[in-house]
Amino acid sequence: MTPSTKLGISAVLVVILVLLRGDSSAVARDLASNSFGGLWERTTVILYNHLGAAVTHHCRSKDNDLGIHVLQQGQSWNFSFSPDVFFKTLFYSSFQWDGQVRYFNVYQGSRDFGFKVVSWRLKPTGPCYILGQDENCFHWKSAPGIST
Ligand SMILES: *[C@@H]1O[C@H](CO)[C@@H](O)[C@H](O)[C@H]1NC(C)=O
Repeated sequence: MTPSTKLGISAVLVVILVLLRGDSSAVARDLASNSFGGLWERTTVILYNHLGAAVTHHCRSKDNDLGIHVLQQGQSWNFSFSPDVFFKTLFYSSFQWDGQVRYFNVYQGSRDFGFKVVSWRLKPTGPCYILGQDENCFHWKSAPGIST
């Protein structure tokens, strides 16, 4: 190898290293700047009670029972977990208020995967997904189950 060939190879390696470093920091920046997180980040589900009455809720997944809690009107409750890589995480909840029981999946990987924070405003007609100033409202389910 001539000295100039060695120099050329070194220069190419330096360029490749700079590109790799640049790439990885760009990815880190993208992950930090939007609401989508990496698989390793925990997701938080927040429930806000707008039902006009205290609600007794019970949320569970295949592996976790988050317990029975009473949430007063106007108050919030939250839990955090690490989502399943295969979009399969499901937290299903029951809500009991004013003598009625309703059901809803507060986290469903196929619908919510990628969001670090999933916030719900619980209303008499159903839970509303909070998106900044907007909300996306769903209907309560009258029976527990996986389908939405
Ligand atoms: C979740 O609940 C805890 C305990 O009440 C509270 O300290 C925390 O601020 C809540 N987090 C969010 C994101 O609402």
